[in-house]
Amino acid sequence: MTENDVQTTREQGLVDIVVRSFDGTSDARLRAIMETVVRHVHAAARELRLTEAEWDAMIAFLTRTGEACTDTRQEFILLSDVLGLSMQVIGMNNPPCGNATEATVFGPFFVDGAPHIELGGDMAFGASGEPCWVTGSVRDTEGNPVPGARIEVWEADEDGRYDVQYSDDRTAARAHLFADGNGEFRFWGLTPTPYPIPHDGPVGEMLAAVGRSPMRASHLHFMVTAPAFRRLVTHIFVDGDEIGWKDAVFGVKESLIKSFTRHSSGPAPEGRSVSSWTDVTFDIVLAPA
Ligand code: BEZ
Ligand code: FE
Repeated sequence: MTENDVQTTREQGLVDIVVRSFDGTSDARLRAIMETVVRHVHAAARELRLTEAEWDAMIAFLTRTGEACTDTRQEFILLSDVLGLSMQVIGMNNPPCGNATEATVFGPFFVDGAPHIELGGDMAFGASGEPCWVTGSVRDTEGNPVPGARIEVWEADEDGRYDVQYSDDRTAARAHLFADGNGEFRFWGLTPTPYPIPHDGPVGEMLAAVGRSPMRASHLHFMVTAPAFRRLVTHIFVDGDEIGWKDAVFGVKESLIKSFTRHSSGPAPEGRSVSSWTDVTFDIVLAPA
């Protein structure tokens, strides 16, 4: 045996011993997870010929990631988002079902208990930005309306910030409403604009180190729920957006890119008078639960 062969045998032997250490795990799923993760982590370290200094740096990075977590900030989810893991898990857990609307990343800015607005109401609640008239329908995969579906919407203002990123406890640019008896909905929101994910922590450092932008493609978040249907968490994206497919969290899907038509003057829906506004249509299809 050459020294190389001895080395390879030792490395593989260690992986085998560690994998076997989970033989007594009574929960079969936990055992499968531990074995698979160990195999893949060791394979990565061996493929990279990871140095001790690099291992130290990785531990320090993960430690800083944990330390950055607070009641209102989850840096590990952000890490999962920028590595595309969140989108991979979302994709696997929301498989295609007929023409059901595709899901995308949830993000950290949903707040339970957002105010209710009537159909045609304004979810901006004073947030800055160009008004956007949003209309659409909620249907099942057979094309039948889903009356009364609950629709949660939230977005950033034109300065790229969600209400929860201000320190004054405001509630703005978020609401919930219910589809009407024909499954249709309409509301005033804001024309989405690009903004960065929180990048003042370790995830931001990592993005800078690899030369990646923290910007998200312009989007408006939706969460749609109705009894007997799979919960849909998604966004709509703006056709022609400057960030587009370079979205920092890989959330963009072709089917979710919508045309926002700009109107410069004239009467606007619900009797509004604004100098510039857009409109967009989003027809939502829910998969059965
Ligand atoms: C967002 O849409 O706001 C978002 C999504 C993932 C990570 C950070 C922000
Ligand atoms: Fe967002």
